[in-house]
Amino acid sequence: MNKPQIILGIETSCDETAAAVVQKTKDGVKILSNVVASSAVLQAKYGGVIPEQAAREQIKSIIPVIEESLQVSGYRHQDIDAIAVTYGPGLIGSLLVGVETAKTLATVWEKPLIPVNHLLGHFYANWITVHLPGVKAHLEGVTPQFPCLGLLVSGGHTDLVLFKDHGKYEYLGGTRDDAAGECFDKCARLLGLAYPGGPEISKLAKRGDPTKFHLPRPMIDSKDFDFSFSGLKTSVANLIHTFEVKKRSYTSKVKCDLAASIEQAIIDVLVAKTIKAAQKYKIKEIIVAGGVGANQKLANNLQFTIYNLQLKTKLHIPPPELCTDNAAMIATAAIFNYHPADPFILQAEPSLSL
Ligand code: KG4
Ligand code: ZN
Repeated sequence: MNKPQIILGIETSCDETAAAVVQKTKDGVKILSNVVASSAVLQAKYGGVIPEQAAREQIKSIIPVIEESLQVSGYRHQDIDAIAVTYGPGLIGSLLVGVETAKTLATVWEKPLIPVNHLLGHFYANWITVHLPGVKAHLEGVTPQFPCLGLLVSGGHTDLVLFKDHGKYEYLGGTRDDAAGECFDKCARLLGLAYPGGPEISKLAKRGDPTKFHLPRPMIDSKDFDFSFSGLKTSVANLIHTFEVKKRSYTSKVKCDLAASIEQAIIDVLVAKTIKAAQKYKIKEIIVAGGVGANQKLANNLQFTIYNLQLKTKLHIPPPELCTDNAAMIATAAIFNYHPADPFILQAEPSLSL
């Protein structure tokens, strides 16, 4: 079998509808198009994602988004080598839209269909070396080397994974309750901020003092590589309640200080556990993935700790728009994990794990 060169990726695991065309290069992957349509206006109105509503929007936008991704790439569907699609984990209604569309197109266009685990897909944003014209790609063309340690920080997952090669990895630990992104989102809601909460907290945090409130760093010293963030959210809820009960002035300065303290507490735990895992397994490359990877302070704190401990560890973090959900990462994952499935058998798997 010839190695695939041009892949169309489709991603609909949460509220976004995304399609992208990528091309294999000598060392990494080049993005030819990367289209993402999200129901952001509806999310802001209802304070989150409503699964049924998200799926209904995705049914409307999936074909136009795929058409646009092909048109921008300059390739016709006849020219692509395969179709990659996220088949889990995610919202069942949303996954079905992408999976059934991909199965149909693969059958009609007679192309191989490559199912991709969304969580694994996030990590592959680190193998994208050439971005769209005018946008800087990850580390200007340097792809991660194995073995590497993966930190996945998305809205639903916080996991540490040891990668030995493409498709060969070992799960080291993960969250026992809320994910880091979920903690950002829930704390933002308590602060009356819009959804998604991570970028909103981060914005306020820039004007706040992260030492003002002493919030817990759950499991920071535990011997394993698990996480827990629900207690942090409860502490924030209690703190806000105290302000309300005592009628202390809940000023915008206080809000900024609280946002900065929340951000710092989450980041301290992520950095401590990641660095501990890198040291224990003597790993010289760390790859970050998922929406919270777009947080600049997380990147700065990780880099600072690596430098401070003189670890000589290389840190890979994709540009922000490739940290959050997109189809370019799904197509890229398919290039390095090329396992075609039968379109008459493939099913969406909402509870798929790594
Ligand atoms: O990976 P992602 O786009 O979707 C999932 O697969 O879940 O991650 C979304 C999460 C949300 O919780 C959002 O608040 C968080 O990523 N996020 C951020 C930032 N940008 C997105 N969290 C902190 N700082 C950011 N700049
Ligand atoms: Zn995701």
